[in-house]
Amino acid sequence: MKLQTSFDGLVLQNPLMPASGPLVGDAEKLLFLQNAGCGALVTKTISVQLPIIPKPCIFGAKDYVMNSELWSEHPYTMWVEEFLPQMKRFKDRPLIVSVGYSKEDMEVLIPLLDPFADAFEVSTHYVGTDLNVISAIVKTIRSHTKKPIYMKISPHIPNPEAFAHAIQDAGANGIVAINSLGPTMHIDVSSRQIQYSNQSGYVWMSGPAIKPIALATIYKIKQAVPSLTVIGVGGIQSAEDVIEFLLAGASAVQMLSAALLKGKGLYQKIIDQLPKTLEKFGFDSIEHVKNTVLHNPFEFKGVVPTLIEDLCVQCMLCKEVCPYHAITFNDIITIDEQRCFRCGLCVSKCPTKALVGSYSEGRL
Ligand SMILES: Cc1cc2nc3c(=O)[nH]c(=O)nc-3n(C[C@H](O)[C@H](O)[C@H](O)COP(=O)(O)O)c2cc1C
Repeated sequence: MKLQTSFDGLVLQNPLMPASGPLVGDAEKLLFLQNAGCGALVTKTISVQLPIIPKPCIFGAKDYVMNSELWSEHPYTMWVEEFLPQMKRFKDRPLIVSVGYSKEDMEVLIPLLDPFADAFEVSTHYVGTDLNVISAIVKTIRSHTKKPIYMKISPHIPNPEAFAHAIQDAGANGIVAINSLGPTMHIDVSSRQIQYSNQSGYVWMSGPAIKPIALATIYKIKQAVPSLTVIGVGGIQSAEDVIEFLLAGASAVQMLSAALLKGKGLYQKIIDQLPKTLEKFGFDSIEHVKNTVLHNPFEFKGVVPTLIEDLCVQCMLCKEVCPYHAITFNDIITIDEQRCFRCGLCVSKCPTKALVGSYSEGRL
């Protein structure tokens, strides 16, 4: 199975890389993920000023993470003199250096980091939403490097399509979508405290719960500017998720929070599972997924779901969740066609896939 993929002159052994964050915070951590087989590496965001990070700063829930961590706690000089020179360079495992934030920061950072970088990822998390400011940052970076530039978009940027046009016009190659979502908040009822927050009481949210926002942002950007490269990130936790992001329009993907929740071994596990998962869904390579056109079977009609009795374990979840009181049980599950709103909720919730249909054509 061919997992290799390429874009903007970069060749990746496979499409999975770590997202910028604590798991790529120094050379030792980067080398761990290089040995785990990641298709590319991304550093923690390096900046000129040192951050003052509140502690504790990472909260793990079942399907999301909240954090108030900022950028790299290490000075950029340590990255240039100590961490980056230790990195082994491979032709098919590019090193993407993440930098932030202002154009003045870029004047200092890019010339020093350029010899170590195969590409740059640029966090716009703390620079506001003014596209003129963001364009000026791109232009400054472009004046110091010929390498690919990927601007990272935060979910609080109001218009991803306008962001996409602006950064392409300024000379960037693509977008990393998306950064963590915020502001969000975590409250501990017992202690009556806001926890894990910054001084304003807010945290950033990431992990599987934000996946639908990431997918929609990638799709929006690709619809608006098809020639831009998009690196997808936000909520990935499985090989199937990787395929989903590529179908939405990503050229490669990044993951962080799921590995914080499930352990650092998740990178290798997903890479190992990619060939079988591709095969399961009828793909023969990563490029095959990327060249597949995504369909939207949107319609107003819908169908009443059909029950496959052999698969039904009579758990009654469909009856419980049906918002239209259309499902009854009397020895077998019955769906009242008059009451059924064709909403599809029961089909999506059935744990044994005993309910099928929702669209007139094609099984849901
Ligand atoms: C603890 C933590 C630290 C992070 N630090 C950075 C950072 O330094 N730079 C950056 O661009 N994104 C940072 N992020 C955002 C991630 O790179 C990523 O965009 C986001 O978490 C969504 O992906 P995920 O759901 O796979 O974690 C951080 C996220 C977390 C949870």
